[in-house]
Amino acid sequence: MTEENRVATVTQRLLDDARQAVIDLRITEDEIHEAAQFLDRLGQAGEFSDLLDIFLAVTSVVAIKGADGGTTPNLAGPYYKAGAPIRKDGRLYEGDLNEQEIPLAVRGTVTDAGSGAPVQNAVLDVWQADGAGEYDSAGYHLRGQIEVGADGSYEFHTVLPEGYQIPAKGPTTELLEMMGQHNWRPAHIHLRVHVGDRTPLQTQFFIAGARYLDSDPVDAVRSDLIVEARDDPASGGKQMDFDIRLPAAHGDARSAADGPKALGAAR
Ligand code: BEZ
Ligand code: FE
Repeated sequence: MTEENRVATVTQRLLDDARQAVIDLRITEDEIHEAAQFLDRLGQAGEFSDLLDIFLAVTSVVAIKGADGGTTPNLAGPYYKAGAPIRKDGRLYEGDLNEQEIPLAVRGTVTDAGSGAPVQNAVLDVWQADGAGEYDSAGYHLRGQIEVGADGSYEFHTVLPEGYQIPAKGPTTELLEMMGQHNWRPAHIHLRVHVGDRTPLQTQFFIAGARYLDSDPVDAVRSDLIVEARDDPASGGKQMDFDIRLPAAHGDARSAADGPKALGAAR
């Protein structure tokens, strides 16, 4: 199918469904004009991508790609940045640890969901917010690639992330509020698993006990992705274990809209 046909097919289906909603819900022309004004404001605020990520990305990633026997996949969201440095020493943070931050060690294995064997030549591409809920959009602080050992084990050192608002203000938040939904994401860490030039898994895991786990506006929380953060006597901080099982059908889990954040609130 050509890209032209794909656009026509998707647009036609969205129009058919929207027209049916107009009929079923008796949406008035005034309400359509009000919606149009809202969409204009959304565009001016640069929040179209946030809105689509909030409402549709999880459905695309989880419902269509599915877990396929492996770790449940999850959305990338808008804050992924390609080209993160390989962190040979396992540290995701740059410079000294800020005193306000809680050190976090994450350990686990990467195995094949079918055979249980360690996956060879896997690399984790990790990105996360800091303890104040901020992503580094200018550089690569709390972003990095972690090489997985031949025995399938990995380890990286970072800080405990905090939840954040998406986006902090603007029409997206107004709409969520009108729907009775707040705009706070629960604390999480994103990662992709690269094996050679393939990316068989993209997911995120959540800190057990974090605020908003049961009311994520993006609806991305899945029980197998919630991980306990235990005390770590070695660092005085926390440690988490997250074992990753790669799906049997090693397709490519990346979203089409790859790359750095294009729209929405700067982070
Ligand atoms: C995120 O997890 O980074 C995210 C997901 C959806 C919208 C905005 C941010
Ligand atoms: Fe995120």
